[in-house]
This record gives sequence, C-alpha cells and structure tokens, in this order.
Amino acid sequence: MLVVLKENSKEVGQEAARIVASSLRANPKLVLGLATGSTPLGMYEELISLHHSAGLDFSQATSFNLDEYLGLPPESPQSFHYFMHSSFFAKVNFSPANIHIPDGALRKDYSAYCDEYERSIKSAGGIDLQILGIGRNGHIGFNEPNSSLASRTRLKELTRETIEDNRKFFPPGMEIPECAITMGIGTILDARRILILATGKSKAAAVAKAIEGPISSSVSASALQLHPDVTFIIDEDAAYALTQRDYYRRVLELTRKYTPEKLD
Ligand code: F6R
Repeated sequence: MLVVLKENSKEVGQEAARIVASSLRANPKLVLGLATGSTPLGMYEELISLHHSAGLDFSQATSFNLDEYLGLPPESPQSFHYFMHSSFFAKVNFSPANIHIPDGALRKDYSAYCDEYERSIKSAGGIDLQILGIGRNGHIGFNEPNSSLASRTRLKELTRETIEDNRKFFPPGMEIPECAITMGIGTILDARRILILATGKSKAAAVAKAIEGPISSSVSASALQLHPDVTFIIDEDAAYALTQRDYYRRVLELTRKYTPEKLD
C-alpha cells in the first residue's frame, strides 16, 4: 500500500488525474472504475482540462461506476447518472456505448440485474484502475459497515449516517433514497489497481482505521489492505489521525528512488 500525502484537496485531484492520465496513455483501452461524490470532482476537472489542453483521449476507454441510488431515474439531477454526465462524461470524448452506471430506476429483479453488471465488468476484461472515495463510516462504494468483504454487486440498504451525509445533494423536502445498487467489496478488490482519495477532517478517523486499523467488515475500506496495488491519496486534514505519517513520506521517497514506475 502506498500513502501519498498532499497539502490540499486540489493537489489530491491533480495527483489522481496524473495517474489516470498516465494509465490511459499507456493503455488507451483502459477500463476505469469510477466514483461520484464531492471528493473526485477535482480529479474530473483536471482530466477535463487535460483532455482540452493535452488531447487526453478517452474514446477507447470503458467505465463502470460504483453505484447508483435506488429509485432515481437517470435524468434526476440527484442521480449518479446525472452527476457523471454533467461533471465528466459530457465534457470529454468518452464513447456513450462504453459507459456503465448501475440502473437506479429498476423496480424488480435486482439480483439478476446485479449479476449482469458483474458479467459486463468481466466481459470488458475486468477493471484496470478503480477510483474510490471513502465515507465517514469507512464505506467504499455503498458498502456500509458490516458488508461482507467478499460481497459482489447488489442492492444495499444505506445507514442513517450516509443518508444524512448525502442530504446536501438533495433539495429540501425531497425524499432521499434509502437503498442503492453498489459494486461489492469483492468486486472492488478484483480491480488491478485501486486509487482511494480522501480530503477533509471529517474523513480522518475513517482513513486512519482503513490504513492502520485491523481488517474488519465494520470498516469496509480496511479490506483494501488485502489488495496488492492500492494508493491512498489524501490531504493533510484527512491524514490528521494517522500515526505513521513520517514513514509514509519516507516510503514515497524510496519508491521514487527505486521503483518509480509504481507511481505512474
Ligand atoms: C460514490 C461512492 C461513495 C463516496 C463516499 C464519499 O460513488 O461510492 O463511497 O465515495 O460516500 O463521498 P464524498 O466524496 O461526497 O465525501
């Protein structure tokens, strides 16, 4: 595991975009796993600007989003479909046929639909680079505490804490969905490489448990310790509760010296 400490959220977005861009240049047919939420917005802005200024080409890439609220049609401004199109896809040259986001408008047969989502990830060759944020309760995707560490894409009930955290994205009075379709922790761990981003003090406790705590289903992100190629990119506020910050800085310097390819 690599822990990359950055000064602020802008630098977190730039570093994540740098890695996505270099992976895409090395493999134009890159299969990306993508996240929504406030955290990756800076990364998307930076990728859009690289597309315009440096011709970063998404035309052959494929994407699979982590999750979608149940009950929201794609055209709902609160849906993750809407978020992804307005914040990213509409501003780069991603081919619409290559974009996959779970369908939140489903009313039945969730498990058959989720199995199909898993199959389409497999038939695309699996996810090369998965982008994650982290919830205050340590969730990745919408894998709330006590999700099975082997879970696959499925319907998941949201905790009160997550519903409250997401209230800011909903207009007053609008009912907030109580369930979502989410890739499972097992699905996420199948990705070849994982970047997890975190910014702000409110994430510090979850980040410390994920990196330095025991592996436990009560902190879904701690399962990332099982993955051989995970990079945490976090700002100073989110790194606040880590006890080994100096060591992580030294690991990064030595990685730059001996195995710089790991940072691209
Ligand atoms: C989003 C997702 C969630 C968020 C997490 C953090 O697709 O799967 O796990 O990454 O809730 O959200 P923000 O970035 O809004 O703090």
